[in-house]
Amino acid sequence: MTDLRPLEDAQDGDTGQDDRLIARVDNVTMRYGDKIVLEDCSLDVVKGAITCVIGLSGAGKSTILRLLNGLRRPERGHVYVKGFDICHMPERELIDFRSAIGFAFQFAALLDSMTVGENVALPLHEHTRMSAEEIGETAEATLDSVGLENTYNMFPSELSGGMLKRAGFARAVVTNPDIVLYDEPTTGLDPIITNLLTDTIKHLRTKLNGTAVVISHDLHSIYMMADYIAMLYEGAIIAYGPTDEIRRSTNPIVQQFLQGSEVGPIPV
Ligand SMILES: Nc1ncnc2c1ncn2[C@@H]1O[C@H](COP(=O)(O)OP(=O)(O)O)[C@@H](O)[C@H]1O
Ligand SMILES: [Mg+2]
Repeated sequence: MTDLRPLEDAQDGDTGQDDRLIARVDNVTMRYGDKIVLEDCSLDVVKGAITCVIGLSGAGKSTILRLLNGLRRPERGHVYVKGFDICHMPERELIDFRSAIGFAFQFAALLDSMTVGENVALPLHEHTRMSAEEIGETAEATLDSVGLENTYNMFPSELSGGMLKRAGFARAVVTNPDIVLYDEPTTGLDPIITNLLTDTIKHLRTKLNGTAVVISHDLHSIYMMADYIAMLYEGAIIAYGPTDEIRRSTNPIVQQFLQGSEVGPIPV
């Protein structure tokens, strides 16, 4: 992935048709009530790469993921996925379109009343015409691929925190999406589970031959997996580039964040 360059030449109003991009948040403004969360915010998502979005709590990182899968529509600007402007896609089309976009929520959000396997199978019931047998086999194989063999008939309450996360990943990728969105996949978990989950995200990216956008605070995990890092600050992406470049960034906001320092332009 390292041969890919950030798209410095991408212009405002690009339709996201650039072959190297699978998605593009284009000059988006987004508010909740009176509170502006994103303002003229743009982000390129390079195909086949892992892009990590970093930023302070409350910066709007989860909002970017909600925009990318059409759960929210911006007040201004556009969101392109696979060349489609999903902001203006009718809800009915968007429901089908979402099978191309996997979403691993911050809190795994499995349904307690169903087995782990049934949870993972849900998107296949929604989005495909597979037979019940095929659905069962696919869900089981997907659980295997995240290291959860023999959990199909267990209930979510029987799984550990790290296993629940992986079950959430399995549900996010079971339809073979082109792009998978992970919201804080490792937050609050111990370093060993964090490494395991990070490896799982990398493995799934390779297996699907797809793209991932990962929100994370965990720098160790980010450096392990990210091809690109984007930093969200005060409503916009203020730094974006290959991981090594961002690590060497001279932007004082980026450096303060990466160093976890109290001293610098970010008010503590
Ligand atoms: N549904 C909502 N209604 C009102 N405010 C919201 C809503 N969702 C998020 N916010 C606010 O918008 C800001 C950005 O939220 P979010 O995207 O979740 O940030 P992050 O994921 O970076 O922590 C926060 O201040 C949050 O409190
Ligand atoms: Mg969030």
